[in-house]
Amino acid sequence: MGSSHPTKISFHPSSDIPSLKDKVILVTGGNSGLGKQSLIELCQHEPSTIWLASRRIDKANEIRFGTNYLGHAFPVHCLLPLLVETARQSGSDMRVVLLSSVAHRYAPSKGIIFSSLKNSASNMGTVARYGQSKLAIILYGQELARKYPMLKAAIVHPGQVRTSLGDTASSSSVVMIILWKLTSAFMGVGPQTGVLNQLWGATAHDIQSGEYYEPVGVMNRGSKHTRGPELAVRLWNWTMQEFHEYKGNGEGAGVQIPEH
Ligand SMILES: NC(=O)c1ccc[n+]([C@@H]2O[C@H](COP(=O)([O-])OP(=O)(O)OC[C@H]3O[C@@H](n4cnc5c(N)ncnc54)[C@H](OP(=O)(O)O)[C@@H]3O)[C@@H](O)[C@H]2O)c1
Repeated sequence: MGSSHPTKISFHPSSDIPSLKDKVILVTGGNSGLGKQSLIELCQHEPSTIWLASRRIDKANEIRFGTNYLGHAFPVHCLLPLLVETARQSGSDMRVVLLSSVAHRYAPSKGIIFSSLKNSASNMGTVARYGQSKLAIILYGQELARKYPMLKAAIVHPGQVRTSLGDTASSSSVVMIILWKLTSAFMGVGPQTGVLNQLWGATAHDIQSGEYYEPVGVMNRGSKHTRGPELAVRLWNWTMQEFHEYKGNGEGAGVQIPEH
């Protein structure tokens, strides 16, 4: 796959997902929406173990950034030693699939406003805060891929999917609620279609680590902030600092946090 990859690829989970025998899979948010649909589909290919992770949010951070970004980067980071060790075993296919969104394009014009991340970011609109958190997921996946070339990091937008996301993501804005309901009704897809891009990212042979994909398997769609390493490196360093503070202030006691 290269830049000549303009249209979506054909992907049918029942026939295109290979046997997952001997694979261990961890799905966050697996009790509803796209996480649940992923479990339903992946279970049909008989992985050896499948884990479902549940919610936990750090109140000190802007809520959307905490939920959508740190809440995902943190478990990935804590698991890194195990992921790296497993990736080095012959025949392994170690992947991290990160759920971003086309809405990363609605992040603030500077991309990530670092001064907004540790407070309520009340001067930013709901869309900008959501976009910022989803841009952060892309940048984290890019840097993860650069620093850990033995892993594959797939970053995906699922499409607009009729799940309960619209109720939670838009609850603070009437305009968002109306917009979500209208666009969902006319352009949204059900979870069975919405799950395809992440299933593809989790199982297809030809994914490019650190790439952001729109459904299904369409690359080169990231915003300008995803095109150079500077912002990704800055966010990575900020994130590592956060993780170490979390551990240092006792909340993350007992959690092993890798240095890099
Ligand atoms: N649906 C879309 O159109 C769309 C578009 C672009 C990107 N995405 C991304 O796809 C991912 C999955 O979304 P979805 O559509 O499946 O959403 P969903 O149906 O609302 O649920 C996703 C999961 O996230 C959990 N969750 C919700 N709020 C949480 C919080 N504050 N802290 C921790 N966990 C929380 C839910 O747990 P509870 O059941 O306990 O609430 C549920 O398990 C998200 O990262 C979303 O941003 C979705």
